[in-house]
Amino acid sequence: MRAKPHVAVLKGGWSAERDVSLVSGRDCAAALRAEGFKVTEIDVTPDLAAVLAELKPDVVFNALHGRWGEDGCVQGLLEILKIPYTHSGVLASALAMHKERAKAVFRAWGVPVVESKVVPRHLASESHQMKPPYVVKPVSEGSSVGIFIIREGDNRPPGALGSAEWALGDEVMVEEFVPGRELTVAVMGGKALAVTEITTAGHAFYDYESKYAEGGSVHTIPAKIPAEVAEAAMRHAEAAHAAMGCRGVSRTDFRYDDTVPGKHRLIALEINTQPGMTPTSLVPEQAAYKGMSYGQLVAWMVEDASCDR
Ligand SMILES: Nc1ncnc2c1ncn2[C@@H]1O[C@H](COP(=O)(O)OP(=O)(O)O)[C@@H](O)[C@H]1O
Ligand SMILES: [Mg+2]
Repeated sequence: MRAKPHVAVLKGGWSAERDVSLVSGRDCAAALRAEGFKVTEIDVTPDLAAVLAELKPDVVFNALHGRWGEDGCVQGLLEILKIPYTHSGVLASALAMHKERAKAVFRAWGVPVVESKVVPRHLASESHQMKPPYVVKPVSEGSSVGIFIIREGDNRPPGALGSAEWALGDEVMVEEFVPGRELTVAVMGGKALAVTEITTAGHAFYDYESKYAEGGSVHTIPAKIPAEVAEAAMRHAEAAHAAMGCRGVSRTDFRYDDTVPGKHRLIALEINTQPGMTPTSLVPEQAAYKGMSYGQLVAWMVEDASCDR
């Protein structure tokens, strides 16, 4: 029998989602070891190319989130080094990371999205760029970092966007607020796994706290929604994955607005090419629901690893 490949797990890095990635990486590494892989964990620094050139792993398991790790940069480095890696390639990663450009492609593929525009952050901090209610978010971040929800009747736009400390990009996305429920769908190898509903009691929305604090959110799988809505969410998530040209695992986040009787709508917010990967994260949970253990999932991801060319 051929020896199992030596896997380098990339984690940490220096994005706003460093802490989340350290946890994803640690847990994936432990599960890969339990599956019999030789594993080296790398807390990524800007000298990653030199570290990998010396280590010479057979495969990279990319457990990074956010800038550099999820936006095509690390993927480009791995293409140059010719080391097969998990998840999406350069173009899919870069495209998905830019929420506004990703939405333009979603529209072309029939994936439903709401109106939004990208504006300089100082404008969004000074005056309403859209009639409230709306959401302001960084164009290229994750984990709900830097998201503001401006409710109907709020007379002030988010002043924090104008502050000198703001480090999440000079342009922000202003997007129509979609009331209702929060759904997410994982896609693995092109096929949707399930629909999870996320409820966040005590939080204004699915913010950073509710994503990562103990008991911050409740996941219901499968979501208790009409069968045709679940079916539509799964098809849209597969279309979003295909539209970006994703590989491996992705996760598409939706709002399901059932607040107006007879006018239900399902709206895609974004696709995550490097979704959270702890055993209790949404993707591993959907895999488990489909009968695949966490260990089997990470092993599948390593076997599925490749380069764009
Ligand atoms: N247009 C919107 N309408 C309602 N809620 C939104 C909207 N955009 C974002 N949110 C809330 O903020 C959360 C994070 O937004 P998302 O676009 O998924 O960015 P992130 O990459 O930070 O996860 C969503 O899960 C949702 O709860
Ligand atoms: Mg999201």
